[in-house]
Amino acid sequence: MRFPGYALELGSLAAWACLVALSLWHNLGLLDAQAREVAAARARMLFSVVETTRLWNARHGGLYAPVTAESPPNEWLIDPLRDVDIDGRSFTKINPAYMTRQMSELMDKRGGMSFRLTSLKPVRPGNLPDPWEAKALTLFENGGTELLERVTDDTGGDHYRYMARLLVEEACLQCHANQNYQVGEVRGGISVTFDAAQVLAEINPQKQQTIVLHGVGYVLLAGATLAFLTWLRAGWRQLAQAKAEQEAMVAERTQELRQAVDDLARSNTELENFAYAVSHDLQEPLRMIGSYAQLIDRRYADHLDADGREFLGFMTDGAQRMKQMIDDLLAYSRAGRTEIHPQPVALERVLESALANLTAALQESGGQVLRDGTLPVVAGEVSMLVRVLQNLVGNALKYRHPERQAQVVVSARPHVQGWEIRVADNGIGVPEAARERIFQVFQRLHSNAKISGTGIGLSIAKKIVERHGGRIWVEDNRPQGSVFCFTLPTVPAGTDVPASQQQSGAN
Ligand code: HEC
Repeated sequence: MRFPGYALELGSLAAWACLVALSLWHNLGLLDAQAREVAAARARMLFSVVETTRLWNARHGGLYAPVTAESPPNEWLIDPLRDVDIDGRSFTKINPAYMTRQMSELMDKRGGMSFRLTSLKPVRPGNLPDPWEAKALTLFENGGTELLERVTDDTGGDHYRYMARLLVEEACLQCHANQNYQVGEVRGGISVTFDAAQVLAEINPQKQQTIVLHGVGYVLLAGATLAFLTWLRAGWRQLAQAKAEQEAMVAERTQELRQAVDDLARSNTELENFAYAVSHDLQEPLRMIGSYAQLIDRRYADHLDADGREFLGFMTDGAQRMKQMIDDLLAYSRAGRTEIHPQPVALERVLESALANLTAALQESGGQVLRDGTLPVVAGEVSMLVRVLQNLVGNALKYRHPERQAQVVVSARPHVQGWEIRVADNGIGVPEAARERIFQVFQRLHSNAKISGTGIGLSIAKKIVERHGGRIWVEDNRPQGSVFCFTLPTVPAGTDVPASQQQSGAN
């Protein structure tokens, strides 16, 4: 398994970038809103001052000021008392709109901030609104009270523009009654304009601070995340390396083991082949020794003294024992070499055949073989299984207790590997220490003298059972004797069982 590529790093950096950008955008938005509030407060203040001054003027029905070049008589003011002379000096009436205009001009000269009086239905054409003012005035006609916007003009200047309405009051009607205005109606408005830079200058340091803070925050978060991921990656790499080493080791051991098993199997096969060849080749000379010993016995027995005849007897006997051993060895080899074609086999029949082969031994020992329940049908090779039961029952008779009649009980019970066949006896038993050994070739429980046999019967049984995929072992029997157990596979479901191999009690 591999640690995901650097996508994790890139992904988390991108995620943090998105998050920080979102926060920055939000905070800058808050600052912009704050700037707007500042701008609105300023504009409202100026508007309120101008409006109040105008109202003060209107309540006086206009105020007189000396006529000068800057303030000539207002051509738009229709009033019989517009121009008066006092002590030879000329005075003219300054109506609120005229006053507002003059104040506005003064403010323009100072720069930075300006305001303007306007109306959708101006008495004086010069008071016509510009498009933005017209928009605001239309808004007021429809119930709006003020408008604040940040606008960029044609020359690229960045401004805040504010406008609020002027309502008709009683005092206004002195001069505006002939235009059919009612008290409370919108007469026009005053727009206030100033450089956005003025307000932004107050906000910008905060904006810069916010940007820097976010930058630092991002670097810290990204750094911490990268450090964490690097740490994680290092740990992971260590783990992966350890795992790889372990796997390599396991693979190496497995290889060694397989090699050893192969070697063992090969040497085993070689040994068996050798044993087979040797046994086979030994048969002929042995037969010769046996035959000639008999010949000598027949023809020259009279010429021999008692010792000679006894020696000849030993010789014949030895040759016979050796022949038995060679036969058993060949049988053992064959058990390992013959191909197995498993067929359904009724163990009842197998046991019958085995007992038939053991007739002599049964008579000689006076033993008794019983069956506990019916024996099952298993998958296997008939002749080989006959051999197994024959060897086991034969052994049970052979190793009977001298003071008891031999009694052998054959039974079967289900086992995880199919069936477990049990051959129980009341014989001399097998001591714990010998339970492995007795299944090896030529390993006998008892010395030659007492009981005849080559010690290969159990080896053959073991080989056959193992070739069938089963296992063989020996247990204690209660109260005395031993139980030889072995497992055999069941017949696979759906296999046709020939009539000859069906259970006697099944149908
Ligand atoms: C003494 C007379 C007088 C009074 C009082 C007066 N106005 Fe006017 N107003 C005028 C004249 C004359 C104009 C024409 C243009 C100018 O002078 O710029 C005018 C212009 C205006 C304008 C500019 C648009 C336009 O029509 O040219 C507005 C807005 C306005 N007056 C609002 C008011 C309001 C609101 C009041 C009451 C608070 C008021 N005026 C009181 C005489 C008066």
